[in-house]
Amino acid sequence: MSGLFITLEGPEGAGKSTNREYLAECLRARGIEVLLTREPGGTPLAERIRELLLAPSDEPMCADAELLLMFAARAQHLQAVIRPALRKGSVVLCDRFTDATYAYQGGGRGVSFERIGILEDFVQGALRPDLTLVFDLPVEVGLSRAATRGRLDRFEQEGRGFFEAVRNTYLQRAAAAPSRYRVIDAGQDLARVQQALDQLLPELLERCLA
Ligand SMILES: Nc1ncnc2c1ncn2[C@@H]1O[C@H](COP(=O)(O)OP(=O)(O)O)[C@@H](O)[C@H]1O
Ligand SMILES: [Mg+2]
Repeated sequence: MSGLFITLEGPEGAGKSTNREYLAECLRARGIEVLLTREPGGTPLAERIRELLLAPSDEPMCADAELLLMFAARAQHLQAVIRPALRKGSVVLCDRFTDATYAYQGGGRGVSFERIGILEDFVQGALRPDLTLVFDLPVEVGLSRAATRGRLDRFEQEGRGFFEAVRNTYLQRAAAAPSRYRVIDAGQDLARVQQALDQLLPELLERCLA
């Protein structure tokens, strides 16, 4: 038996966390076993790496150190949590994954996609998400939603150009592989976003039960 690996992507404030819960409830209500997790993080060690990645610091973190920490956390998360859950046949709903590395470290920081791809192959082997939901919204809408959460983390302190590059990278990746991605207009009110998710559910269920 092998489960289904679904990732939720998009910038800060796009509604990933909110809608991850919603999707999990929809699937669990139909008797499907769901594991909710997130990146960077998802295990105690990976959550400690997350703290290193998000904490503002006087010492600038170089882009390669940031990239390698992301993949170090991912290696641990895959080995300890994601692969075992998929082997059990669960649906894994993961808040961010390697698409975020392409968007933030690639698009945002300028690390080459080729270099990211080398690490992706090294850490993941052939494993890729079965489905990736991209929560897309105008940069300023996401930033204003995220700003209500209080102190800004190291990524949230970036400027508008960084987030435009993040958004564009997500959209380019989705356009290049439309069978794996679904782009959701996350700038709408929550009820409408959830209607869009409801429309995806039959397809999701079909894949879960396949
Ligand atoms: N469609 C929406 N319209 C308005 N506010 C929203 C919407 N989706 C989420 N929010 C709010 O925006 C904030 C960020 O949402 P969250 O789910 O934490 O986003 P993310 O996990 O993508 O950063 C939260 O306060 C949430 O309640
Ligand atoms: Mg979140």
